[in-house]
Amino acid sequence: MSSQNIFPINDRFVTRQKKEISFGHRGGVYWLCGLSGSGKSTLAISLEKFLFEKNCHSIVLDGDNLRSGICNDLGFSMEDRKENVRRVSEAAKLMASNGYIAIVSLISPTKEVRSLAKKIIGEVDYFEIFIKSTFEKCHERDVKGLYADSESGKITSFTGKDSVFEDPTTPWMVIDTEHETIANSVSKICDAVYNQCSKPNT
Ligand code: ADX
Repeated sequence: MSSQNIFPINDRFVTRQKKEISFGHRGGVYWLCGLSGSGKSTLAISLEKFLFEKNCHSIVLDGDNLRSGICNDLGFSMEDRKENVRRVSEAAKLMASNGYIAIVSLISPTKEVRSLAKKIIGEVDYFEIFIKSTFEKCHERDVKGLYADSESGKITSFTGKDSVFEDPTTPWMVIDTEHETIANSVSKICDAVYNQCSKPNT
């Protein structure tokens, strides 16, 4: 795609630094990845609420919501998932570079798509959080009935079954929702994110 005749404005907006000083926290992208039913959305919702109560400026970018709008032309082939991650990364980057805390909740199944996210967002703003739960446990929960649908063949390319999920090897944080209570997981993620975004700029 050509970028001819495009002139992005980078230096005339209110600066990130001014925004972060006014907000009282640093911007960043907290990228929650994991299987469907692992608890990403539950944790994202609780984290947003916690940050809001601390007067932080945060936004949740959740897979199912985005796929109902800005990504509603995409399916579940690996190519489409990559495009999904690319779009969400660009949106999250805009938010972080304006001092906001973006909480992304996307399966983001492979190392390749997550390194794309990290590359777009930038290493200093990208915090990968692996919401860990085995396929068997997510299957047992089956909150949305999708595991049953994938078994009956109603949906295909289902993550963890016909479509790959690669565990992150060096995430910023791991939340083990299979073995921890929800309250425990919520408290861990909230404390870690709040600590990180409250760190003074160096
Ligand atoms: S990603 O792989 O591109 O990162 P994303 O997080 O946006 O996925 O969307 C996953 C959501 O789409 C799931 O939570 C589920 O509700 C729904 N979904 C529908 N079909 C599938 C499928 N084949 N595999 C995984 N999730 C699916």
